[in-house]
Amino acid sequence: MKASSCFAPGKIILSGEYAVVFGYPGIAVPANIGIEATFGPRRTVTLTVDWHGPGYDQRTEEYVRRIIVGCEQSRKPVRGTLTIRNQLPIASGMGSSTALVIAIARALLGDDCHERALEIEDEMNPDHSGLDFAVIWGNRPIRFRKSASETTIERLTNPFDWLARTELIDTGKPNESTPELVAWVKSREKQLRKPLQIIGNCAERLLGGEDPRAVFRDHHRAQLALGVVPQSVEELIANIEKEGSAAKVIGAGGRTGGGGMVLRIN
Ligand code: MEV
Repeated sequence: MKASSCFAPGKIILSGEYAVVFGYPGIAVPANIGIEATFGPRRTVTLTVDWHGPGYDQRTEEYVRRIIVGCEQSRKPVRGTLTIRNQLPIASGMGSSTALVIAIARALLGDDCHERALEIEDEMNPDHSGLDFAVIWGNRPIRFRKSASETTIERLTNPFDWLARTELIDTGKPNESTPELVAWVKSREKQLRKPLQIIGNCAERLLGGEDPRAVFRDHHRAQLALGVVPQSVEELIANIEKEGSAAKVIGAGGRTGGGGMVLRIN
């Protein structure tokens, strides 16, 4: 029986965290690292998950098993070995949870499993906007906007040349999960209208060609106002700004613990 393999990249949100959940636009690009899932079927009664790379603990194992159960609703039971080669920091803003859903679903269900993979994403990451899923599924830079009636995904054909001046900094894993943080922000939507609007506007400013350092500074301040940048990360970014550069958290961030990955632009 033939093995099937699929690679799903991580993602970097350049603008739009949380704002996209409320209908504002966001911009994201795929990372050049990601997760590869390979399924080797065997005539056995067991399924072995063979994980290579960082981040395998009990929580990740349960997460992987739940994705597999989700896939089994659309295919025969998964028996054999599922090999996962991970290059992404887990639960740190680079889309590892969505990349796992997409890589595993494609390896088990084939490339045309978009609808089922999105249903599994809905179960695994409730209340997500769809931005992470869209950029990871398509593996290309996008402008994303989801309104009550439709989702618009525009492919960006002229990637930003200033990305060559950026670097990623790992500030450690947040203590809270993304669904918990999204629910917390949603519960305060009325109070947070202004920072959400500022974040939404940053996408248009980047697309309009404004200096990304100015945009990142405003974006970061709005993320601070949402309460999703831990103090140690606030201090790190203040020091980066003193050097004339700028930086922002690139995913859900956190309230305590680390803030996940930060993107610095020089
Ligand atoms: C998480 O990568 C991005 C958030 O905007 C949540 C979402 O869009 O689903 C925080």
